[in-house]
Amino acid sequence: MLLVTGVSGGLGQLVAERLADRDDVVLGTRAPLPGARRVNFDDPESLPRAFAGVDTLLLISAGYGEDDTVIARHEAAISAAERAGVRHVVYTSLSGAGDHLPYALPHRWTERRLSASTSLKWTVLRNGLYAELLAFLAAPGADGRLTAPLADGRLAAVARADLAEIAARVALDPAPHAGRVYELAGPRALGGAELAAATGTAYEPETLAEARERLSASEARAFEVPMLVGTYSAIAHGFLATPDAGTLPTLLGRTPLDPLAVYAEAVGAMAGASAGR
Ligand SMILES: NC(=O)c1ccc[n+]([C@@H]2O[C@H](COP(=O)([O-])OP(=O)(O)OC[C@H]3O[C@@H](n4cnc5c(N)ncnc54)[C@H](OP(=O)(O)O)[C@@H]3O)[C@@H](O)[C@H]2O)c1
Repeated sequence: MLLVTGVSGGLGQLVAERLADRDDVVLGTRAPLPGARRVNFDDPESLPRAFAGVDTLLLISAGYGEDDTVIARHEAAISAAERAGVRHVVYTSLSGAGDHLPYALPHRWTERRLSASTSLKWTVLRNGLYAELLAFLAAPGADGRLTAPLADGRLAAVARADLAEIAARVALDPAPHAGRVYELAGPRALGGAELAAATGTAYEPETLAEARERLSASEARAFEVPMLVGTYSAIAHGFLATPDAGTLPTLLGRTPLDPLAVYAEAVGAMAGASAGR
């Protein structure tokens, strides 16, 4: 039996849609979702019950937070998996190119923890940054400008749906992927000018200091400000620009989605959501 955690999140929901109607898959979430098991890594005592009878665990990395919070969640999940006799953990990690990002450390810690396990087989899906995340990082303003500190940098953004498809495929048949670490960047890199053109706006690069000030004055939580500024810096300075070299279509069994189209669609959905508020 396969258990997918985090099915109320953006990625987990897409994975769950792909696995609906299978009787060898159970869904897990903190949310009160009918038919799903309650899975909350902040409540380790609940996990033996949640993981009972599970052979493969698709561990969706557990949200934003300070490093110690996220690491404690993943430690709880992996030790519960070991105790429950889970055979294989498929973990959604962060791309190796993202090593400079402020939230890379819990992902690398979790990879180390899995490879040190004496009982678990594992597969690491090193997800690149989502095209949907760009819709948030580089959101066009109502003033017709797209203001973001991306300089001339580009991001090899990847559609979240492609990552969900790969996670579902690998988790359903994990054996051939045991011990593998897959780098999953997007098929092409997108820069500020291209994003602006796709949304009919003008690209206005700002400095990282200006962005930090803007974010500090927003509703962002304290730990989110350095996370976001660090993400901008990594894009602006060319650390996340290398596109996929062919892993994506191989694992997908099809051509990856166009990240620019996914970005534009996500921008449209965000605009629709704020107009409806
Ligand atoms: N590559 C990227 O661009 C990118 C962008 C954002 C985030 N991420 C990372 O990738 C993960 C999935 O992305 P996403 O877009 O689905 O993020 P998301 O929509 O913010 O969802 C957060 C996820 O974290 C899970 N989670 C949080 N606290 C948890 C806990 N205590 N116990 C168990 N699960 C917990 C949630 O599960 P439930 O709500 O279902 O319980 C949900 O799956 C994120 O959690 C984050 O680590 C990657």
